[in-house]
Amino acid sequence: MKLAVAGKGGVGKTTLTAWLGDYLARQGRSPWLVDADTALSLGSALGLPAEALPTPLIRDEALIRERVGKGFINLNPDVSDLPDRLRVRLGDINLLVMGSVAGAGGGCACEANALLKSLLAHLLLDRDQCLLVDLEAGVEHLGRGTVAAVDGLIVTAEPSWRSLSVAGQVATMAAELGLTRQVLVLNRAQSPITLPALAGLPPLAAIIPPLSSLADRQLTSPSVLHLPQQDVVDRICRDILSALETRLAPEAEEGVQPPSPR
Ligand SMILES: Nc1ncnc2c1ncn2[C@@H]1O[C@H](COP(=O)(O)OP(=O)(O)OP(=O)(O)O)[C@@H](O)[C@H]1O
Ligand SMILES: [Mg+2]
Repeated sequence: MKLAVAGKGGVGKTTLTAWLGDYLARQGRSPWLVDADTALSLGSALGLPAEALPTPLIRDEALIRERVGKGFINLNPDVSDLPDRLRVRLGDINLLVMGSVAGAGGGCACEANALLKSLLAHLLLDRDQCLLVDLEAGVEHLGRGTVAAVDGLIVTAEPSWRSLSVAGQVATMAAELGLTRQVLVLNRAQSPITLPALAGLPPLAAIIPPLSSLADRQLTSPSVLHLPQQDVVDRICRDILSALETRLAPEAEEGVQPPSPR
């Protein structure tokens, strides 16, 4: 399962990616977590000290030139050694800090993009393994490359019109690019909730309540793991993954309706 986590800024994408990674690691599934955001906050959300954060791949110009070249770029570079070389291990979690193409400096965005795409595509995993990509906020970063590299999308939103509108746009764009396996996760919301009839919203898989333990923690640490409310977090992860697994199963595909295009 290769999943991307998308949505408006600040809705909880990084928190959810870290929770899912931690949950999957405890299930023995050695997940790969990819930080594809400019802010590079996934490592610290997982509890990695700032000094242990690697240089994001997007800023490693020497590596980008070595593999992709410059000018006439190699769109199919050999990246087979890179996952092992670049990953940071946090227990059973493998973290790859890529950064966002939108944040690529200088004139090497195309080259960096080619390397990121090849690396994501290369991470073909065993059936039991998982890849989770923490995306840059908003709609415009959801490109063909990212969509082609994953087979499921977790659209995260808060219970507000603006947040849900962005969620609907993200989901619609992904569906237009062929990524129709999607679930919606509502963060900082209370159930039951009636959602507005916005185009494109995927089926709701989980509602995350405001967590007082996380709010307290964030005053002293960026880590979002090992909260006293772990049972709540685990239930949310289970609900999301089982909703996606149902939608990913080939036999479930016939009945799955892609979100209606706008
Ligand atoms: N359910 C929750 N209860 C309390 N605090 C939360 C909850 N979800 C997220 N937070 C906190 O809200 C802040 C923003 O969350 P997070 O960084 O995961 O959002 P994001 O979507 O990744 O943001 P960005 O778009 O900037 O990357 C963090 O400090 C996080 O710990
Ligand atoms: Mg984030």
